[in-house]
Amino acid sequence: MPSITVEPCTFALFGALGDLALRKLFPALYQLDGAGLLHEDTRIIALAREAGSEQEHLAFIASELRRYVGAKELDEAVVERFLARLSYLHVDFLKSEDYVALAEMAGSAQRVIAYFATPAAVYGAICENLAKVGLAENTRVVLEKPIGSDLESSRKVNDAVAQFFPENRTYRIDHYLGKETVQNLIALRFANSLFETQWNQNYISHVEITVAEKVGIEGRWGYFDKAGQLRDMIQNHLLQLLCLIAMDPPADLSADSIRDEKVKVLKALAPISPEGLTTQVVRGQYIAGYSEGKSVPGYLEEPNSNTQSDTETFVALRADIRNWRWAGVPFYLRTGKRMPQKLSQIVIHFKEPSHYIFAPEQRLQISNKLIIRLQPDEGISLRVMTKEQGLDKGMQLRSGPLQLNFSDTWRSARIPDAYERLLLEVMRGNQNLFVRKDEIEAAWNWCDQLIAGWKKSGDAPKPYAAGSWGPMSSIALITRDGRSWYGDI
Ligand code: BG6
Repeated sequence: MPSITVEPCTFALFGALGDLALRKLFPALYQLDGAGLLHEDTRIIALAREAGSEQEHLAFIASELRRYVGAKELDEAVVERFLARLSYLHVDFLKSEDYVALAEMAGSAQRVIAYFATPAAVYGAICENLAKVGLAENTRVVLEKPIGSDLESSRKVNDAVAQFFPENRTYRIDHYLGKETVQNLIALRFANSLFETQWNQNYISHVEITVAEKVGIEGRWGYFDKAGQLRDMIQNHLLQLLCLIAMDPPADLSADSIRDEKVKVLKALAPISPEGLTTQVVRGQYIAGYSEGKSVPGYLEEPNSNTQSDTETFVALRADIRNWRWAGVPFYLRTGKRMPQKLSQIVIHFKEPSHYIFAPEQRLQISNKLIIRLQPDEGISLRVMTKEQGLDKGMQLRSGPLQLNFSDTWRSARIPDAYERLLLEVMRGNQNLFVRKDEIEAAWNWCDQLIAGWKKSGDAPKPYAAGSWGPMSSIALITRDGRSWYGDI
């Protein structure tokens, strides 16, 4: 039996027939149901613009649920229970009269959670219409990314929502914050005095954050081409990871204490100068290449692509944080589509010992590394130096891992998907894992200067072959500082 209690709610999912809802949100709600974490009185209302009968849409949602949950994790008894909670409402998001039925179904007794898996352009209208039918008082709203495409447009969206919903009932999603290992970063840093004493420029030489994806853009060209990798990944996921690594210890675990510390980091990010744009930042776009031994098209050859686009599918950059803890410690960020593997990992490189007494030829490998693997094979590993075993080895050193692999260590426990945790936290009213308005704005502020710089320079992204680790210049970016990306060369 779960050790936490969750209040009942009416979960209104806007954009219920979209990719995100079908692939992630319904499966996450199903898993919560299976784990006994949905109250028996919780109901789910799927709202979408598609006409057609309720029966037909619910049957489609059910078949997609089975597909995405996968046979191994399907329990027909849970599926039945889950589907019994579900109803479908056809709405035009912009018409307030279409919300009357929702208000009737929600009644006034229960908390409403309104999840917007729709374009951000309609968030304001949905909020206004919820308020018109009396659903503003008791409702928490959940906003999917991207919230805007720059500081100005994100402010517009946030302001439109804020007219009807206060910040403490507004939950902005960055699904990376729901990943198990990301949560563990807080535990690792602040529940172990071992690391915190070393966590600064005296002991750390640099930090790498890589979020690589094997997939290309495929069917998502329409959305992605307007965004690009900086807006799609750096502005949110990678900067959030950077904040969790770089922030000062919060006073407590409350949402605002954590978010206050994250905002300070974002505000301390050094702006990138026009010269820095060429030495500190690399934009790339994939061209045809190979993925898992099969040839795959380039970004400009994907279906429905515009062959002139200069949208980036890869970004590598060096970020510097202007404060006492991190002065002189670069954070190298790298993210791209069509990389050789799906890999999200953070590597903290510690400095060499201050006085070196071993053989000079071994010096290069002397540095401890803390590797935090978000996916796949979630876990934490600390590379430490030990002596090679054997009488003939002398004081030959080797670097080996002290390893904590989450799925091996807690074999029985399944690692939940990020959305399961995030949906649960919304139901529990806990904002820890959600992004506050000022965080989003500080992140946009920093990214906007990069976007403006690119626009001004007019430089095209550098090509890289699908299935590679990005343009050669992304390797030069780090080797110029006498370092290399961990593990891939
Ligand atoms: C999303 C981006 O936020 O994150 C996608 O919009 C990306 O482009 C996805 O593919 C990656 O998420 P994950 O959890 O698979 O690493």
